Amino acid sequence: MKNDMSRAADSQHQSPKLKSKLMARIKPQALLIQSKKKKGPTRISITTIVMCNLIIALIALSLVATYRYWSRRSPDQSGSDLSTLEDIGGFVKKYDLPGYAILNTSKGPIMVELFKDGSPEVVDRFLDLCQKGHFKGMPFSHVIKHYVIKGGGSQGLGAAEDWISKGKLRSQLVTRPKHEAFMLGTTKNRLDDKGFELVITTAPIPDLNDKLIVFGRVIKGEDVVQEIEEVDTDEHYRPKSSVGITGVILKREI
Ligand SMILES: *[C@@H]1O[C@H](CO)[C@@H](O)[C@H](O)[C@H]1NC(C)=O
Repeated sequence: MKNDMSRAADSQHQSPKLKSKLMARIKPQALLIQSKKKKGPTRISITTIVMCNLIIALIALSLVATYRYWSRRSPDQSGSDLSTLEDIGGFVKKYDLPGYAILNTSKGPIMVELFKDGSPEVVDRFLDLCQKGHFKGMPFSHVIKHYVIKGGGSQGLGAAEDWISKGKLRSQLVTRPKHEAFMLGTTKNRLDDKGFELVITTAPIPDLNDKLIVFGRVIKGEDVVQEIEEVDTDEHYRPKSSVGITGVILKREI
């Protein structure tokens, strides 16, 4: 630079032709200096631009992320809201579960208490079937005096007849702790929709829990049960005249 300046100073004492020649030689260097001077701010501005771009990109990314988060969350949230409701529903259900059912029959109403705590699964199943109207119009397919009345399930007694006849015999022979009469139960391994059998005992039966899943008991309408028990049957315990359940009313309390 010093060199350039001295040269420039020298150039004042030189001919205009040489001066212009020298100027032409200086010019690129001056331009270089200028460009160097320019490059400083240019480099800063590039950095600034890059930074700005980065910030914009970050903002955009965060916006996209936020949008995605919320758009993903909103159905999730409604889902979790639903599940919360369901949970609350389940919670409420556990406590508000109908504890009683009135079986309307062609002979009158039979009120039963459901053992929600003792047999929760079967009670759930029973309530579910009640809500589906499964028992509406269900005839008592088998009536065995001083033993049980049974509705639903298969038309043939099958295994039930077996345990009924055996049980009946045994109940006469064995003096074991007996279940009270008027218990509400269903035959084991028949919890599917079609096979769900409703059994009401009309006498104390020993080993009842071996044969039935007891899930309730009659608390009102024992006389109705006995009336049904009195209907004439054929040799296969099938009532000669139709008697059945006309409807079920579920009650939380009585
Ligand atoms: C049950 O019987 C009562 C009285 O007979 C009647 O008012 C009610 O509507 C019946 N309900 C069903 C579900 O059958």
